[in-house]
Amino acid sequence: MSSMKALAARGYGGVEVLELLNVPIPAPGPGQIQVRIAAAALNPADLRLVSGTFKELAPLTFPHLLGGDFAGTVTAAGEGAGRFVPGDEVFGLGLPRTARGMAELLSSPPSLTTGTMAEYAVFDADTPALALRPAELPAERAASLPTATLTTLPLLRAGDFAAGMKVLVIGAAGGVGGAVVPLLAARGVHVIATAVPEDEEYVRGLGAAEVIDYRSADTAAATRHRHPGGVDALVNLALAGTSLPAMASLVRPGGRLLNVAFPSPGADTGIETVYTTARPGDLEEVAALAVKGVLRSTVSRRYPLEQAAQAYADLVNEHVTGKLIVAIGSA
Ligand SMILES: NC(=O)c1ccc[n+]([C@@H]2O[C@H](COP(=O)([O-])OP(=O)(O)OC[C@H]3O[C@@H](n4cnc5c(N)ncnc54)[C@H](OP(=O)(O)O)[C@@H]3O)[C@@H](O)[C@H]2O)c1
Repeated sequence: MSSMKALAARGYGGVEVLELLNVPIPAPGPGQIQVRIAAAALNPADLRLVSGTFKELAPLTFPHLLGGDFAGTVTAAGEGAGRFVPGDEVFGLGLPRTARGMAELLSSPPSLTTGTMAEYAVFDADTPALALRPAELPAERAASLPTATLTTLPLLRAGDFAAGMKVLVIGAAGGVGGAVVPLLAARGVHVIATAVPEDEEYVRGLGAAEVIDYRSADTAAATRHRHPGGVDALVNLALAGTSLPAMASLVRPGGRLLNVAFPSPGADTGIETVYTTARPGDLEEVAALAVKGVLRSTVSRRYPLEQAAQAYADLVNEHVTGKLIVAIGSA
């Protein structure tokens, strides 16, 4: 077999430029591994790259194969990729190879990949964004973890959260929220989560102590009503970062405003934007937390590779709870 199925973008655009293609199976070069993908998880960033927003930092070549989060089996290792050998079960996060400029901006760069919404993908092996997958952690769950957790860990480091703090998490029921809420709760933080009523049980299951229905109530007014003295921190995973300065008064004097969502608020606002970053040992810690049950399953929907374009359309057009997964092979 020399060709494989992969989800590709024909050019810059929205979900309408996505199609399933037959493309050559990528071969690993020096320092790289080839992986047979078992599962890949969707992220808004996959589509943002295709939209052309990051054209300057991360120019794409077309057809561009989508996907960064994955779990799979190593099928070949290039010279000098000694950390992994064929047969290893791995998971992690890749960025498109042409995103080298963007990777260099991150303090600890992700792996560069050929795209994980495919039967096979190639990764740079020498990066903390790849790790061995413990047998107790199913491939789909492992695939759902990298972006969410490698964004949450730097957020936790930036926020200096402590037991008893009250933290408002906006966008708690989405992909990143699936790691932020349980990891804050595990530190004893009182999490106030925004979520629609059908997700209330889900976010409480993740560890939220309070839930604000952002569709029927104004999040700012509801927070002010419940916590007139202000919350200790606000973590934004949903609103355009540029709308955050208007919410600064929800946080008590000396409290923190942390942002993950795009577009980011300006540096002059005092709001800190945190970026996905992998440090050595992070993914191993994440795997251990998932095996222990501190991180729970957040996979809400599964699609076969043939329906991967539909999965991205659903990510854009439908309400999303947790993570959407494309199941590709078996592991
Ligand atoms: N800085 C970084 O390095 C980094 C890393 C990862 C992600 N991100 C960005 O962070 C954001 C979150 O990522 P994600 O993967 O968690 O996205 P996601 O899975 O799409 O989740 C976003 C969640 O926010 C909810 N939401 C939408 N509008 C809301 C509002 N007005 N108030 C409260 N909640 C609202 C969404 O609900 P509905 O489905 O009902 O709209 C959804 O549950 C995205 O913008 C992503 O691009 C940045």
